[in-house]
Amino acid sequence: MSVFSDIDLTNVPKHIAIIMDGNGRWAKKQGQMRLHGHSVGVESVRGTLKAAQKMGVKYLTLYAFSTENWNRPKEEVDGLMKLLVQSISNEVEELNESGVRMLNIGDNSQLPVDAQEELESAMKRTEHNDNIHLVLALNYSSRWEITRAMTEIAQDVKDNKLDPSAINDEVVSSYMATAKSGIPDPELLIRTSGEYRISNFLLWQIAYTEFHFTDILWPDFRDEDLFKAVLDYQSRERRFGQITEQLK
Ligand code: FPP
Repeated sequence: MSVFSDIDLTNVPKHIAIIMDGNGRWAKKQGQMRLHGHSVGVESVRGTLKAAQKMGVKYLTLYAFSTENWNRPKEEVDGLMKLLVQSISNEVEELNESGVRMLNIGDNSQLPVDAQEELESAMKRTEHNDNIHLVLALNYSSRWEITRAMTEIAQDVKDNKLDPSAINDEVVSSYMATAKSGIPDPELLIRTSGEYRISNFLLWQIAYTEFHFTDILWPDFRDEDLFKAVLDYQSRERRFGQITEQLK
């Protein structure tokens, strides 16, 4: 029986972020090329998105390609870019019909031109939707995002648009790629494949995020696994620096 019925639908994370890891190892176990793992991983993206919609999650952020992933063998980088372009192109109509809005928090400008165009077109096509936001972290890393924010803050101070004494954590947040697209901080971060790292993902935004790590490799990740992660989240006491008695 599905664990879906055990979920308290009044306490579902509004924003779930996922580090989709283990595609390469999954493929290797099957005696296949790494790219095959990424292709099968797209199926997990599809299922996870539907499961998130079923629970009423409003933002699903997927770490699809980090700024460090450019250092992988060229064949894998090219294959991944092609897969992303094809997947977005194949899925955009169905995503649009099911009320999905697509966003990217990464650096679009450094992607291959066809990927930039496909992404821009999908974001435009789905801009009026709000059932769920599918946020791709594509050519993203936190250090890139934070460095850019610092540069923009420095420029605004220099241009007398920002008073240094007015800089607080809300102001800093507003310079992050997430805030620029109206994306709240995630309540839950999932990482698959048994690795216990954050890998330069949403470092500013995860200050009070709950973490769920699973050994499942991303191509094997199913809706039940997402439901279990949410149940795990619902078992946590989120104190935000306070003590239990203050939460009553
Ligand atoms: C990490 O596994 C996965 C990636 C770097 C790419 C993830 C991309 C996809 C699943 C395609 C997503 C598609 C859309 C449309 C969002 P890894 O290659 O690092 O695995 P390993 O640690 O086992 O080598």
